[in-house]
Amino acid sequence: MENIPKNYDQIDQWKSLMFLYSSALKEINVKIEILNNEFIQIYNYNPIEHVKSRLKTPESIVKKLKRMGAEVNVVNMTEKISDIAGIRIICSFTSDIYQIADMISRQRDVTVLYIKDYIKNPKPNGYKSYHMVVTIPVYLTDGPVETKVEIQIRTVAMDFWASLEHKIYYKSDFEAPDYLQRELKACADVVDMLDAKMFSLNQAILEWNRRDDGKQEEKEPEKSEIT
Ligand code: GTP
Ligand code: MG
Repeated sequence: MENIPKNYDQIDQWKSLMFLYSSALKEINVKIEILNNEFIQIYNYNPIEHVKSRLKTPESIVKKLKRMGAEVNVVNMTEKISDIAGIRIICSFTSDIYQIADMISRQRDVTVLYIKDYIKNPKPNGYKSYHMVVTIPVYLTDGPVETKVEIQIRTVAMDFWASLEHKIYYKSDFEAPDYLQRELKACADVVDMLDAKMFSLNQAILEWNRRDDGKQEEKEPEKSEIT
């Protein structure tokens, strides 16, 4: 962030920073779109259902810094907050998640700062998702600026649970009674079961397709004999 002129006042520095983060979001969105399109080209399969991205609002940046007990300034904003630029990739199956994460981290200009794997280690409430905080360079006239982006990767089913749980509960001041927390966790278990079931159904269908293709190939010579 050293490219931001020091003589800028706080407001201008803030604006420059938000411009950087929104540019970083655009760059990462393009990368993901290209990866998905390449996947369709090679495997005739799109692992990504949809992508959502958002910039954290000034109110929620200030709230988060205050919650951390940190002074509200641009240095703390860039150093202490990792999710000013956030992107969420929703995919079909759990196996797609690791493939997508791997494809992103193998990009030469992407640096992975840290990973939180809430799929291998779900939160006690049942939350599952794969989080990566990365930096990517944004190319300004003075040179590249490494900019942080939080990437969350999850299945449609995990997203369904997380979106509703977020609405109902996450970070609200209300402390839900034990039985409601147990119910939410039970819903997360049902979602887990659905994910596993859909995955094995997909595997079974792929296997049937492979067998079918095999039969077609066996028949192929007969066809050419006829013509
Ligand atoms: P935040 O301060 O919320 O950003 O969390 P963190 O800095 O400790 O990072 P973490 O990787 O745990 O969470 C990052 C983001 O994941 C959150 O902002 C939420 O979008 C999502 N998330 C994490 N935990 C939960 C959860 O229990 N429920 C839901 N619905 N979302 C969660
Ligand atoms: Mg967050």
